[in-house]
Amino acid sequence: MNTNEKQNCTDSENACCKGMGMDRKTCDEVLHQLRRAYCDEWLAFLQYWTAAQVVKGVMRPDMSCELMEHANEELGHARMLADRIQTLCGEIPLTPQEIMENCNCAFVAPSDPCGYRIMCQSIASERCAIAVYNRILKMIGDRDPVTARIILEILEDEVEHEYEFRQIKEDIDASREALGMGKPAGK
Ligand SMILES: [Fe+2]
Ligand SMILES: [Fe+2]
Repeated sequence: MNTNEKQNCTDSENACCKGMGMDRKTCDEVLHQLRRAYCDEWLAFLQYWTAAQVVKGVMRPDMSCELMEHANEELGHARMLADRIQTLCGEIPLTPQEIMENCNCAFVAPSDPCGYRIMCQSIASERCAIAVYNRILKMIGDRDPVTARIILEILEDEVEHEYEFRQIKEDIDASREALGMGKPAGK
């Protein structure tokens, strides 16, 4: 990009932020957080989708179904974030490498297919997402109400996801207790 092109780009980004009712600094801060959250959503999608394929245990159909449902919702969140990023004239990460390098929450491979363990990992992943979205909401404050509304909508889904995974885990706990088996070791 030559100097003229760079200047044109900066001018149009400034105009874009202004058009959205924000100064450039706020716009950049919001975009930075949205891009990171977008990476988290792709990794959450991949984590749950893969877990749905390999999960094992007496509640396999329920767990697989729940994981697939959540995977699809994470993908929906990625789309909502991509839309908002582009509305603010930002760019979405384009490669898996960029996604891996810019996430907040780690990808947890379902290397142990035990359903109980996958539920525990999924609960932890949802709690990470909840902490991230709460932090973004706090950062935005009243500076960008449209993004704040989108983040709140996603946050509500993450809270529900955490609850649904936790319910399955508690059902497994209750079944084991009823059979006098106690909790799985180390969980
Ligand atoms: Fe999500
Ligand atoms: Fe989620």
